[in-house]
Amino acid sequence: MTGAWLAEMGGPLLSGPPSRLRGTETETEMNQHVTAGLADPVEPTRRGDVVRLVDLKRRFGATAALDGVSLTVKKGEILGIIGRSGAGKSTLIRCLNGLERADSGEVFIEGREISRLGERELQPLRRRIGMVFQHFNLLSAKTVEDNVALPLKIEGRPRAERMARAAELLQLVGLSEKAKAYPASLSGGQKQRVGIARALAARPALLLSDEATSALDPETTRSILALLKDINSRLGLTILLITHEMEVIRSIADRVAVIDAGRIVEEGAVWQVFADPKSEITRSLLGGIRPQLPPEIASRLAAGEGAETILRIDVAGEAARRPLLSELSVSVPGAFRLVHGGIDHVQQQPVGTLFVAVPGADARHLAAVIAFLKNRGARVEVLGHVAGPV
Ligand SMILES: Nc1ncnc2c1ncn2[C@@H]1O[C@H](COP(=O)(O)OP(=O)(O)OP(=O)(O)O)[C@@H](O)[C@H]1O
Ligand SMILES: [Mg+2]
Repeated sequence: MTGAWLAEMGGPLLSGPPSRLRGTETETEMNQHVTAGLADPVEPTRRGDVVRLVDLKRRFGATAALDGVSLTVKKGEILGIIGRSGAGKSTLIRCLNGLERADSGEVFIEGREISRLGERELQPLRRRIGMVFQHFNLLSAKTVEDNVALPLKIEGRPRAERMARAAELLQLVGLSEKAKAYPASLSGGQKQRVGIARALAARPALLLSDEATSALDPETTRSILALLKDINSRLGLTILLITHEMEVIRSIADRVAVIDAGRIVEEGAVWQVFADPKSEITRSLLGGIRPQLPPEIASRLAAGEGAETILRIDVAGEAARRPLLSELSVSVPGAFRLVHGGIDHVQQQPVGTLFVAVPGADARHLAAVIAFLKNRGARVEVLGHVAGPV
């Protein structure tokens, strides 16, 4: 276990020289220390970006794991990266902490290009990055507090300082009473809290989370996500979160980037991507948590004419705050029925999907309904017709 943990954290980092950073220093001072030993200057115009990737490429034989990835993580934000298995997520994260070398492209961490740095030069930068893993990677022979303090021990900090920091972090993650316990006696959620506390021990500027909640049940997942969000807002910590679950993105991310076959296929504010997914892969990833036409209605849909026309109406943001349906019934008289759907809220923004049945075969009436809805900022799709009422 130790070996695996060291390998994932980056062995050279852990055997590096003692850090000069101390608990009382400000982040600016910490940055100065980090940059002090490095030759090339920090990119002056990009100090607000904790991570910037430019056209990153990495192949494994015939597989393009990263096929020209460019993205930015701004200071203090939570960026979610979502994609199916094999999409390139872990390769991306490994390029960020220098465990993987890209074939081409640039990796800027806090304005410094790292992809051509040697192991020695990477060490201080790696201390700026905390990692949280799917399977926690705790050391079973060490107590909870020793696990949390481990990164500091490897940096050569005195025991009193390590224990004080561990106590502070265990309080932050709500596990003070487990300080002397061993990992085997903890639940999955408690183990991940320890993993998070350990990732924060060296006061990183960036927290990388690779499927941190994938091994947890839904309730524990929610509590771990709430903890990450709390740490983000209380400490202003920048988080890059990798997941294959849209629910995770929806709960805490500010922005989302969708990765498929090594390429970013879509990127934007979470609520906007939820409201108007552009790519097929995003729609499919959203399928489980956005309303879909119930299968018993979908199976009866036919082209051409029928007793009722089924419309899908997507509406979000300002347009969803207005009384859309009541104004429709006033402006375009005629019955319509709400068949399925509703208004959800993502990042405090209303995001609605409504399935509506418009009766009759009057093409002009249908055109007037669609024109009204589009005029009010909704997206409208004619899904088909059904022979009788659904
Ligand atoms: N060391 C390696 N050697 C060969 N192929 C690799 C290596 N690392 C990754 N790959 C390949 O690169 C692609 C991307 O892998 P990666 O681990 O980044 O995917 P992922 O998105 O993290 O998937 P998962 O959700 O399953 O963890 C896959 O096709 C994978 O098989
Ligand atoms: Mg992975």
